[in-house]
Amino acid sequence: MTPLVDPFGRAITYIRVSVTDRCDFRCAYCMSEDMTFLPKPDLLSLEELDRLCSAFVRLGTRKIRVTGGEPLVRRGIMTLFRSLSRHVESGALDELTVTTNGSQLQRFAHELADCGVKRVNVSLDTLDAQKFKEITRWGDFSQVMKGIDAAAAAGLKVKINAVALKGFNDREAPELVAWAHGCGHDLTFIEVMPLGEVKAARFDQYLPLTELRAALSRRYSLTPSLYASGGPARYFDVAETGGRLGFITPLTHNFCESCNRVRVTCTGTLYMCLGQDDAADLRAALRRSESDEPLEEAIRAAIARKPKGHDFLIDREQSHASTSRHMSVTGG
Ligand SMILES: C[S@@+](CC[C@H](N)C(=O)[O-])C[C@H]1O[C@@H](n2cnc3c(N)ncnc32)[C@H](O)[C@@H]1O
Ligand code: SF4
Repeated sequence: MTPLVDPFGRAITYIRVSVTDRCDFRCAYCMSEDMTFLPKPDLLSLEELDRLCSAFVRLGTRKIRVTGGEPLVRRGIMTLFRSLSRHVESGALDELTVTTNGSQLQRFAHELADCGVKRVNVSLDTLDAQKFKEITRWGDFSQVMKGIDAAAAAGLKVKINAVALKGFNDREAPELVAWAHGCGHDLTFIEVMPLGEVKAARFDQYLPLTELRAALSRRYSLTPSLYASGGPARYFDVAETGGRLGFITPLTHNFCESCNRVRVTCTGTLYMCLGQDDAADLRAALRRSESDEPLEEAIRAAIARKPKGHDFLIDREQSHASTSRHMSVTGG
């Protein structure tokens, strides 16, 4: 079958699938505290999610990241990992992975490893339990730390993702580096993106990573690394810790030219770009027929109109949402 290539010649080999918009946390930059979630019947069933992911695999997808909301709070989620593991076993997929807040990792780390998952991304913005409560609103710091340890003990390679937030974790960043690398985990900082309305003004949260990197360079020797994860991060080797530090900079350095991914929501809506509104309804195609032909056709038609890139902007005058969708809807 002809693999998926978009109008700008980019091969689309990576999908991020959000399996739920719900979450057991309410991170201040991601959600408002009183979020309205989708009615459960609107969600794709686990079988439909499997059909959808498998159609992408047939069309050349080599990497699937399961995300959300919090993917590990979806009931029965291990059934999906178990069934997708066949694509890892067959060699059709290079990687099956997950982004999680870590709250359920103690419970699921071993099973994930057993399903062929080799790496997990765990989001953690601070090492201070008090501040953790403040930013996640509902999270339990010690549960997440135990989850991270459980993942490592199960043989999963852990990457910590921290959203860089002005006045919140900027001063703590060197300590985060020391801790993550001391535990043998990679660490990546992410610029906050204007996705969905949250209570705080985006400009007040936004910390350009050019600034953070300059500050970290005063403490550590950072050398550009040859490593690439297949995602948007640019990596540096840290001489003092022997670890790897990534920066995801959608605002200060747009990385759209090398974009290889698309995102599917838990209702089967395919977004060709995180920062644009154009979308395709794959649920209708899934449900229209038992054959996967309409689904594959809908996927091809959507990829044929993948936009060149996003146009995120955060400044004092314009710090409203670029798209009304929260990150928890599209999937991180
Ligand atoms: C939406 S979450 C979904 C997976 C899981 N619940 C978690 O927190 O890892 C995925 C990632 O998106 C990040 N994120 C959420 N809202 C964001 C925003 N407005 N800008 C940048 N990153 C954001 C989170 O910090 C997390 O690392
Ligand atoms: S970032 Fe992840 S953990 Fe935090 S509220 Fe959003 S979906 Fe939940």
